[in-house]
Amino acid sequence: MTSTATAHPNIALAKYWGKRNDALIIPATGSLSLTLDVFPTTTSVTLSDEGADAVRLDGVLLTGDESNRVRTVLDRIRELSGRTGHARVESANTVPTAAGLASSAAAFAALATAAADAFGLDADDRMLSRIARRGSGSACRSVFPGVARWNAGIDDESSYAEPLSWNGPPLAMVVGIVSSQRKAVSSRTAMRRTVETSPYFPAWVTSSAALLDQMSDAVAAGDFATVGELTEQSALRMHASMFGAVPPVRYLSAASLALFDAVVTLRSAGIDAYATADAGPNVKVLCRSDQASHVVDALTATIPDAEYVVAHAGPGSHIVTGKGA
Ligand code: PMV
Repeated sequence: MTSTATAHPNIALAKYWGKRNDALIIPATGSLSLTLDVFPTTTSVTLSDEGADAVRLDGVLLTGDESNRVRTVLDRIRELSGRTGHARVESANTVPTAAGLASSAAAFAALATAAADAFGLDADDRMLSRIARRGSGSACRSVFPGVARWNAGIDDESSYAEPLSWNGPPLAMVVGIVSSQRKAVSSRTAMRRTVETSPYFPAWVTSSAALLDQMSDAVAAGDFATVGELTEQSALRMHASMFGAVPPVRYLSAASLALFDAVVTLRSAGIDAYATADAGPNVKVLCRSDQASHVVDALTATIPDAEYVVAHAGPGSHIVTGKGA
C-alpha cells in the first residue's frame, strides 16, 4: 500500500537562521511563517522488501546528502513506529528546487506525513512537525496551515511548530522570481558559517527573540502593518548576520535589492507591502489579498524581468491517499 501526502512551502515572516544543535536541528531562535497555497510537493511512500530505502525526486534517484536527509526522517519514523522495513519514496516538486523558495520545507513536511502513514505511526500534528524538523528545520512549520510559529525549544520534544490564528485582513504573498537557479551555498552550510564566524550572530539571536514576541502579539491583534514592518526587519537582520560571516554569505542579488527598493516606493504611495527574502535571491512581498494584483502591476512596471506569482494562505500537510485519507 502506498501513502501519498501533499504539503506547501512556507515563508518565514520572523526568520530562523542558525542552529543550537545541528544533529537534531534545534534552532537558535524561534520563527513565524505563512504557509502558501502555491508550489505544492506531493510525496508517495511505499514499504518495500528491498535492502535499502530508495528516494526519487521528480523521477531522479537521489544520492549523497539529499538522500541521507530523507533517511534521517525515515529512521526516526522507524524508531517511533517500531517497524524495521525499508521504503520507496517518490516526490514531485512544482517549485524550482533549492532556489530559496522553500522547496525543502514542503518536501520534508510531505515526507513526514506520508511516511508516518505508510509505517502505521499514529502521529498527531505536533509529532509530525518534530519529525519533519529532522529533515529541514523550516519544514516543521509546513505541517500547519496559514500562520505558524516554531517554538525554538531546547531538545527534540520542545522544538515544534504550532498554528496561530490570524485575526487581520486576508494575507497574500507576491513571489518575485528573479532566478530559478540552484543556490551556490546550501542554507545548512551558510547557517553553520554564520554561527561560527559572524560577529553579528549573537545580536541576531537576541534581537530575534524580542522581534518574535512582538510579531506574535501583532498576529493575535490582527495588526497587519506591525507584522509587515517586523517581517522586513527580520529578513534584513538575517541577511546582515550572513554578510558578517567569513567568508561572507550573500544570497541577495542586485535584482533582489531592486525589488526591496520597489516595495519601499509602493509604501510611500500608500500600499501596505513588505519585502522578505530567504536563502536565495527571490523576493517575497507580503501584502493584503485585496491589494495583491495592484502590487504585481506596480512591481512589473518597475522590474519587468522578474516573474510574479500571487500566493495566499495555504493548507497544512495532509494525506491524499493512504490509511489516514
Ligand atoms: O530549513 P532550512 O534549512 O531550509 O532553512 C531555511 C531558512 C530560511 O528559509 C532562510 C528562513 C526560514 O525561517 O525559513
